Amino acid sequence: MSLQGQRILLGISGGIAAYKSAELARLLSKAGAEVQVVMTPGAQAFITPLTFQALTGRPARTELLDEDAEQGMGHIELARWATLVLLAPATASLLARMRAGMADDLLTTVLLASQAPVAIAPAMNQAMWAHAATQANVQGLTELYDPQWIGPDSGDQACGDFGAGRMSEPAAIVQALQERFAEKKSAWAGRRVVVTAGPTREAIDPVRYLSNHSSGRMGFALAEAAARQGAQVVLISGPVQLATPPGVERIDVESAQDMWQAAQTAAPKADLFIGAAAVADYRVENPSDQKQKKQQGKNEWQLTLVQNPDIIDGVSRLKDRPKQVVGFAAETQDVERYAWDKLARKNLDWIVANDVSRTDIGFNSDDNEVTVFGRQNERYDIGRQPKSVLADALLDVFARGFPED
Ligand code: PMT
Repeated sequence: MSLQGQRILLGISGGIAAYKSAELARLLSKAGAEVQVVMTPGAQAFITPLTFQALTGRPARTELLDEDAEQGMGHIELARWATLVLLAPATASLLARMRAGMADDLLTTVLLASQAPVAIAPAMNQAMWAHAATQANVQGLTELYDPQWIGPDSGDQACGDFGAGRMSEPAAIVQALQERFAEKKSAWAGRRVVVTAGPTREAIDPVRYLSNHSSGRMGFALAEAAARQGAQVVLISGPVQLATPPGVERIDVESAQDMWQAAQTAAPKADLFIGAAAVADYRVENPSDQKQKKQQGKNEWQLTLVQNPDIIDGVSRLKDRPKQVVGFAAETQDVERYAWDKLARKNLDWIVANDVSRTDIGFNSDDNEVTVFGRQNERYDIGRQPKSVLADALLDVFARGFPED
């Protein structure tokens, strides 16, 4: 799921949360939207228009009476251009001026001239948000615009207060918009999706094991996104510290052999099988039933490892093979070459190449940045973004593999 094709007019008013709007503009663009920023004079006291020009590729608009800008896209054209107006942050002042129908700057003027749906992410001090005047404005705006309210969140505030009034995080705002558009159309409604996630643990003895740094976040984000978009999702998870996403059936496993067992049951006839798990290639040949003791005078302990079943390879060769099988390639060097090799060797439809030499993406981080290669020689570069947002972009790619529908 992406915001591909959406033209979002991002209205920024003057609050400290305006600094978060830079990240918001970046994430909206990454999700495929065209973004045009309109700033109030107050917003420019917190962040410069140049920042947004660099992030969106379009000059931010600031003035109502600007001859040069009006020669390009005039304020009425701007209002017509938008498929969605997103106000983030929306201050108490902006809400009040909107409700009063004022047109005293470019943003409020565009709002009056636009027929596009409106989404509002308020941000202000908790007492200002709770004030009866603001709440009356919220009520009034709900009647006037029927907007999508996103937040505000509760928590510590820049002014030192604690309470409701913080602008929602940029990733959450993007997700809320994606859900809004997904409700209208989803390639995943009714599809059966199976995802493996997390590490496996290969026992050495009852207290020790071989494992890796996978947190499960990438696989869980994919399972969550697919379920949100209407798929029936089975998530086969190694040992991780993550909550089960809403609407997802979860099967917990420990070892690669357990994961292979669960996959053989869940995978047949699925529409999509995604191997996001970091499966141990080898296990200890003879794990001990008892804890192994340190032996005095013995400096070495040799373990014999034997190969584990390759789950994704096995799934891609099942009689009732899923319609599409997707692997991840976690590599520290020659990422692209190894990814193409795995795509062919494991009989996959897509491979998601993950450069795990970096610490800011991949294993155990909130973000990821990947390149997807397809068996028809497709290539999609998906820039760094939270795994929760990237998961939707990946599903958009995989949805292209169902051309017959
Ligand atoms: O879990 P996170 O912290 O969010 O991190 C995400 C991730 C880095 C773990 C994930 O994005 C990722 O790259 N997963 C694949 C890790 C991996 O094991 O890659 P690989 O190149 O060794 O394996 C290639 C593919 O074969 C993978 O789809 C893997 O699931 C699969 N495989 C590997 C070995 C095996 N015995 N069976 C398998 O199915």
